[in-house]
Amino acid sequence: MENKKKNVFSGIQPTGIPTLGNYLGAMRGWPLLQKEYNCIYSVVDLHSLTVRQEPAKLRRQTLSLVALLLAIGIDPEQSPLFIQSHVHTHAELAWLLNCYTQFGELSRMTQFKDKSVKHPDNINAGLFCYPVLMAADILLYQTDLVPVGADQKQHLELARDIASRFNGLYGDVFRQPEPYIPPSGARVMSLQDPTKKMSKSDTNPNGYVLLLDDTDTILRKFRRAVTDSGSEIISTPDKPGVSNLMAIYSVVTGKTTEEIEKDFDGKGYGAFKTAVGEAVAETLRPVREKYNDLFKNKDYLQKIYTEGAEKALQISQRTYLKACKKLGLVLPQ
Ligand code: TRP
Repeated sequence: MENKKKNVFSGIQPTGIPTLGNYLGAMRGWPLLQKEYNCIYSVVDLHSLTVRQEPAKLRRQTLSLVALLLAIGIDPEQSPLFIQSHVHTHAELAWLLNCYTQFGELSRMTQFKDKSVKHPDNINAGLFCYPVLMAADILLYQTDLVPVGADQKQHLELARDIASRFNGLYGDVFRQPEPYIPPSGARVMSLQDPTKKMSKSDTNPNGYVLLLDDTDTILRKFRRAVTDSGSEIISTPDKPGVSNLMAIYSVVTGKTTEEIEKDFDGKGYGAFKTAVGEAVAETLRPVREKYNDLFKNKDYLQKIYTEGAEKALQISQRTYLKACKKLGLVLPQ
């Protein structure tokens, strides 16, 4: 990290397979990001513990996500890829930062309020302090840029507030992170209700496509996608279903809206939905095949996440120990 490239940190929770929306909106751009920035990727398993997880499932999903990140093109030689719980500085810095975060600030986090409503029987302290652990993830690596969706903007803002408060008291310890907005990410909507974002927590599984869905499933889900009245393939606000399919087709084929309108002029919704499904299936096929190979190779995965954790510990320890020292903690000799 001695070069002048900016630092990027991204964390992703092992709570299930990402959707086509996660992929086209953000993850697909990650391999390219590694060329321009120093990237670090973490599977943030500690964050997932804030809601109850089934242990065997959590373990499987964590390894699966490591394999999937490699499959989409994260190069572990360039970008350390690690499991958050393997790098103890995360939980440790989170504790320090907890002491510099106000109850009132955390009470205002909309995600905390939403999750408290969703899980009223388990409003635990971890859920409340979740954004502080996220701040620790980010601040440990002197991160300049954090690729986050709209739902995480408030957490990132809090990380900035914590950093400037700490720096104000103790001098420059943390770099101020900024949100990174990908240049060409698509906002993919549900295939069943195109006014809602595509989400794997949708109660109707036909609303989303998962990154590891097989070709038949993908084709079927697109064939069932809701379209709008009329039969023309044009992108307009009063055709949210067709517009969403066109946006998806455009990112996976690289064709412009005008080209798509021309290509499908007079062809009808059925043919178009089949074409979108086929294009998506072809885009996801190599990712799935690579994933299947990697997931079988547990030794290789272990080597990657072990090396990733070693690098991440080395980098993060500098900031962590600096923070400890500033606070007056006696450093271990
Ligand atoms: N809270 C993020 C989410 O649910 C995951 C996350 C944890 C994260 N730590 C992070 C994202 C640090 C970016 C940077 O999506």
